[in-house]
Amino acid sequence: MLKVALIGAGRMANAHAPQLQKIENVQIAGVYDIDPEKSRVFAERYNVPKQYASQEELLADRSLNGILMCHYCPDHAASMTAAMKAGFRYIFCEKPAIRKMEEGPTLLKTAEQCGARIMIGHHRKHDEINRKMREIIRGGSLGTIRFAKVQFCNNRFSREWGDYFADYERSGGTTLDMVTHYIDLLNWFFATEPESVYARAVMLEKNIPPDRKPSDYVSGTLVYKNGIICGLESSYQRYGVSYDNIEVYGDERAVILREGRLRLYGKKEVTEYDVSDAIPCQEEQMRDFVKMMEDGKPRQTTLAEGVMAAVIALGMLESSETGKVYQF
Ligand SMILES: NC(=O)c1ccc[n+]([C@@H]2O[C@H](COP(=O)([O-])OP(=O)(O)OC[C@H]3O[C@@H](n4cnc5c(N)ncnc54)[C@H](O)[C@@H]3O)[C@@H](O)[C@H]2O)c1
Repeated sequence: MLKVALIGAGRMANAHAPQLQKIENVQIAGVYDIDPEKSRVFAERYNVPKQYASQEELLADRSLNGILMCHYCPDHAASMTAAMKAGFRYIFCEKPAIRKMEEGPTLLKTAEQCGARIMIGHHRKHDEINRKMREIIRGGSLGTIRFAKVQFCNNRFSREWGDYFADYERSGGTTLDMVTHYIDLLNWFFATEPESVYARAVMLEKNIPPDRKPSDYVSGTLVYKNGIICGLESSYQRYGVSYDNIEVYGDERAVILREGRLRLYGKKEVTEYDVSDAIPCQEEQMRDFVKMMEDGKPRQTTLAEGVMAAVIALGMLESSETGKVYQF
């Protein structure tokens, strides 16, 4: 029986724990939350035998095979590094992988030196519909890819002011928190490297002091080295209309994921794909983490992919702060 422990016992820990409990050969053996009451409630809910008093205590537990990190982004790099140095080979860490550009290279080097396998929690690659979209793009039926559009707007974004998601310095606002998911997909679709990004962002909330940096809406243009131009729009709005769309245009056809429906558009014909997940994506993500602990083979989203997605989003953040194009 493989044993795992979780750091952070909030929303994502509570999303992953029921998936882990569906898997036969893994046990949630321990939990550590900076708030002991959260650890207690989590331990009771999932019948977890051990509540640690600190991250250090958890990392000293040699009976564990892997760790899931479900706390906040500014702590991800430091916690992953501490876990690797304590001898952990298998880590699942929620996205975004890093909060600062300079964390990326050091983290990748440490993972290589320690022989660690790390998955970053970009679950969209585990969605069958995104896999199908990639298959269409990579299969060549669009012709030469020219541009893509991403629109994520959340009209039910219900965070309380003052919490992590409202705190730009910590979460990076919608740019780092949400756009990373889509950049990770685009990187996977196009298998190329970024050239530059330009973005503008605003704060929607009037009650936030004007010296606080923008975090609620971002509109950016990412250009890949092979010339593909991507328009990226993301917002944490509390009213209006929600969107979750990805459109990819080639010089022959376009593939469009809109309102959960995947369609291929030619000049005259439209093909709709009937895609359903054999296993829900969050369950598949946890099954992949367990398989990674069993066979030692890397699984998506790998640390390198997660860092790359975050680096591009951090370039967008920097551009939205400076007003200048960020060159990679
Ligand atoms: N993959 C997704 O779709 C998705 C969705 C939501 C959030 N997330 C990501 O998951 C992470 C956590 O978000 P959440 O929504 O679960 O937040 P949350 O506030 O619900 O839970 C975070 C928990 O971590 C604890 N915590 C904070 N700092 C800690 C520390 N240093 N050590 C131990 N515990 C600590 C908090 O007390 C809290 O219980 C964020 O990075 C967020 O971006 C991912």
